[in-house]
Amino acid sequence: MKIIILFFSLVGFNALAQSTRVQTHENAAAAFQKLNFFYKGRGMAISPDMIKLYDFMSNRGIGMGENGTIYQRWGLLFKENKAVGIFNEPYEGMEVGVLGCIACHSGKAAGEYIIGLGNKNIDVGQIGKDASLGMKVWGALPHKNPKFKELHARSMKFTKGLATKEFSNLTQGLVPTSLIRSWFYEQQGKTLPPNFPRGQVKVPHMWGYGEKRKTGSFWDGEGNGELGGWGIAVELYAGQTVQNVNEYFEKVHTAENYLGDLLPPKYPFKIDRMKAKRGQVVFEQTCMGCHGEHKRDENDDPIFNSPKHIPWRIVQTDKDRLNALTEELYQLIEINPLNNVIQAVRKPEVGYVAPKLWGVWSRFPYLHNASVPTIYDLLLEPSLRPKSFSLKNAGERERFDETKLGLTSEKISILEKNSRRTYDIKRPGQSNEGHYFDKFKTLTEAERYSLIEYLKTL
Ligand code: HEC
Ligand code: HEC
Repeated sequence: MKIIILFFSLVGFNALAQSTRVQTHENAAAAFQKLNFFYKGRGMAISPDMIKLYDFMSNRGIGMGENGTIYQRWGLLFKENKAVGIFNEPYEGMEVGVLGCIACHSGKAAGEYIIGLGNKNIDVGQIGKDASLGMKVWGALPHKNPKFKELHARSMKFTKGLATKEFSNLTQGLVPTSLIRSWFYEQQGKTLPPNFPRGQVKVPHMWGYGEKRKTGSFWDGEGNGELGGWGIAVELYAGQTVQNVNEYFEKVHTAENYLGDLLPPKYPFKIDRMKAKRGQVVFEQTCMGCHGEHKRDENDDPIFNSPKHIPWRIVQTDKDRLNALTEELYQLIEINPLNNVIQAVRKPEVGYVAPKLWGVWSRFPYLHNASVPTIYDLLLEPSLRPKSFSLKNAGERERFDETKLGLTSEKISILEKNSRRTYDIKRPGQSNEGHYFDKFKTLTEAERYSLIEYLKTL
């Protein structure tokens, strides 16, 4: 009897605890997958009933699959033969195509589909441009539903906004934060300042967000993450009303809480454990000062903690994302009509959060602006990092570089040189400067590779 109790307390309890973390992760992933905030005819929607065109295409395989428009041109992923993150919501006798969170907040790495990873190819600028063109034609056709006009007009405004040349994204996998910021100006009837920065960023990973939000939301940590209001900012931009948000805010709050339950994906290939052990020592000496500890609990699950915010003066990566943080913007955020839940936290100096590195193997290209294709390159002096690289099929197995950890380099054809799926560090906001510190200068080749091996274990 005693032995049985002992057995259960050792094995049984651990197994139970483990299944709890894995179970909450699975629940969060399942809920996030279904999440969108279309409400009372408003949200990130395309023109009513236009989703039927998508169904028509889908049934005939037009634009679908590995080489189809939806993946290659718009960057939407496919799972079970469906574009990920596109929902069909009924509204007043119409069918409305809606963009859900995981269109951006799920992605692929080394051929694996991962919820909570940023989509490496999403191209909202291209989607906006193509959708508004298509919708113009769609809107000119006769539509009987009396509500059509109103929803159509709102969708036109949303997709046209996504396509705004002056401040939309220039490359796949980057999302312009200018869109959300423009909402604060619009609310006060103000015009946007000239040369409004695009503030393009890659979509951040979500695991560990429960602790991350305490430092601050977003790459720059300037959003008050604990109130949970920034999660709907993109809906407001898409025409959601303040009153509606207040009505469904509980749902936003719940979602932001369960995001913290997501776990990072495990490295899917072999790891040389001896080498990784040596790499851990290099990590402790070279990286831990900013990125902190990465410890595991008794079930080998990560113990999440809050990351540090590092002034730009020190990290010196591309500054475009921070240039929008003007006095005027802070004031507009302060008086925004949802300022009970959407607030800024002003840091003593602007900078970027040094993110926790759990699941970092999957998060390439690296840095907030996705400007560095591999970890190996990130350890080199910026002038030695690749100046351009292809994002074509970035999350597929054949593009995964196990040695340098990240994206393989492919020759870029002349035709692809200026394409939106080619990353070019000369485009505004896309420089690969910074994140090169004194301690990096003395790293040997062997130390770089052992460090890479260690990062695979996170
Ligand atoms: C068009 C792509 C896109 C969609 C759709 C989208 N997001 Fe995001 N999300 C982003 C980007 C890009 C950022 C990072 C912005 C930054 O750091 O400046 C972000 C950041 C966040 C953050 C803060 C993460 C952090 O590390 O601080 C939360 C929380 C979040 N999104 C929740 C949501 C929710 C909930 C939805 C669905 C309503 C959603 N997002 C839909 C692109 C998207
Ligand atoms: C002085 C502080 C500091 C040190 C030291 C430092 N980092 Fe960073 N790291 C940062 C900051 C800040 C960022 C975010 C910068 C950005 O996104 O523009 C960052 C970003 C990263 C990223 C990108 C993560 C992603 O999701 O794209 C990786 C990978 C990384 N660091 C790895 C390392 C490694 C490995 C070392 C040690 C060899 C290291 N860092 C040392 C501050 C630091």
